[in-house]
Amino acid sequence: MPEFRNVVVTVNEEPREAEIEPRLLLVHFLREVCGLTGTHFGCDTTSCGCCTVLFDGVPVKSCTVLGVQADGHEIITVEGLGSPSELSPVQEGFHEEHGLQCGFCTPGMMMTATAFLDENPNPTEEEIRWALSGNNCRCTGYVNIVKAVKWAAKKMATSGVSARGAAPIR
Ligand code: FES
Ligand code: FES
Repeated sequence: MPEFRNVVVTVNEEPREAEIEPRLLLVHFLREVCGLTGTHFGCDTTSCGCCTVLFDGVPVKSCTVLGVQADGHEIITVEGLGSPSELSPVQEGFHEEHGLQCGFCTPGMMMTATAFLDENPNPTEEEIRWALSGNNCRCTGYVNIVKAVKWAAKKMATSGVSARGAAPIR
């Protein structure tokens, strides 16, 4: 019989309580326990970045974190960006600049970009490329992804809205 642990994780500002196996990865907790399938699962080896979420505001690859490690912490997934009526600057930037093709990498790209722009709202292209260097895209060649992040930075500067489209969680 596997041993289960009780966890309470705040996901997109809502507490989620569950009994989980200690070996359950955070990405599977989010997808299978919380039903938040926007966080993708690609390589399982900390390589691709499509599983990136914010852990207490810091981007982490959720295939490399155990669900039990998130007990008592705040997680923001791609579903936590923007609001039902308004896209976040990063989401809007990806839309405006055609920053995706198949979309598989997009949730992770947007979460990394969101944390990055909250830290550095006026980045150079080189800084954007460095920030996204842990996220792989097999479709776009990255050009439009970088443009999307630049677009989001400009929107933040003119609107005063955070990269997440809400008050920063830190
Ligand atoms: S699935 Fe986590 S880095 Fe690829
Ligand atoms: S848009 Fe297809 S992997 Fe990035």
